[in-house]
Amino acid sequence: MTVPVDHAVGQGVTEALRVRVRRGDAVAEYVVPRRANQTVLDVVTEIQRDQDPTLAYRFACRVGMCGSCGMTVNGRPRWTCRTRVAAVAPDGMLSLEPLRNLPVVKDLAVDMEPFFEKWRRAHGYFEPGENPPDDFATVEPDSPARQEVDAGIECINCGVCYAACDVVTWNPDYLGPAALNRAWTLVNDVRDQDRDGRLAAVAGDAGCHSCHSHMSCTEHCPKGLSPTFSIAGLKRETGKAALRRFWRRG
Ligand code: SF4
Ligand code: SF4
Ligand code: FES
Repeated sequence: MTVPVDHAVGQGVTEALRVRVRRGDAVAEYVVPRRANQTVLDVVTEIQRDQDPTLAYRFACRVGMCGSCGMTVNGRPRWTCRTRVAAVAPDGMLSLEPLRNLPVVKDLAVDMEPFFEKWRRAHGYFEPGENPPDDFATVEPDSPARQEVDAGIECINCGVCYAACDVVTWNPDYLGPAALNRAWTLVNDVRDQDRDGRLAAVAGDAGCHSCHSHMSCTEHCPKGLSPTFSIAGLKRETGKAALRRFWRRG
């Protein structure tokens, strides 16, 4: 659907934004007024509310916490609630597509199930063991292990890194940057009781050693995390674990 510019531009608004939205096999075009401090998510919401209520997309918090608003914006995966139109569409042209590497549910909404299934495969959940202590376990904030994962624990599961990773595209079985980053935070958690199991889970063909270290995930992560760094740590630790097994056998 295309709305004439004169119609779309309201009082006090002098410019229009031309928006192309991938909707299955088709591309729909809209014209939306440009507004001060407008985010990409604001634009999608305005289209859905004022022009086409059938447009499907996903968001929840609008403040960069829930990780649900990821889309491909002018060719790059981004969180849309914290992406200002002025920063990504200076020429007034906006192209929106669903995140890459995930099945599309409808329009801009993708199915995150394969993404979270890989968290499970990477043992991306805390394992307290059979007899967890009654009291709170202590993690020393200055310990090397805690420092190692300092940035990694801020992940909001947005899937932006997953969409940016070419290895996921080539090998859909590859665990991907977010699940491996999560595994790295747990490998360094002194309270966790599944270190060996987790290292074994990420060492296989579709695990950390498939990473090509080209850093696309790190470049695109909106939280400034470095899954590449985490994966390098996993490569190191899985290598040490293999050596330990070798010497035990010998
Ligand atoms: S560094 Fe590894 S995980 Fe990150 S985008 Fe490249 S191949 Fe994917
Ligand atoms: S590592 Fe960054 S880009 Fe990847 S899911 Fe977490 S917050 Fe999103
Ligand atoms: S809507 Fe929650 S992170 Fe964007």
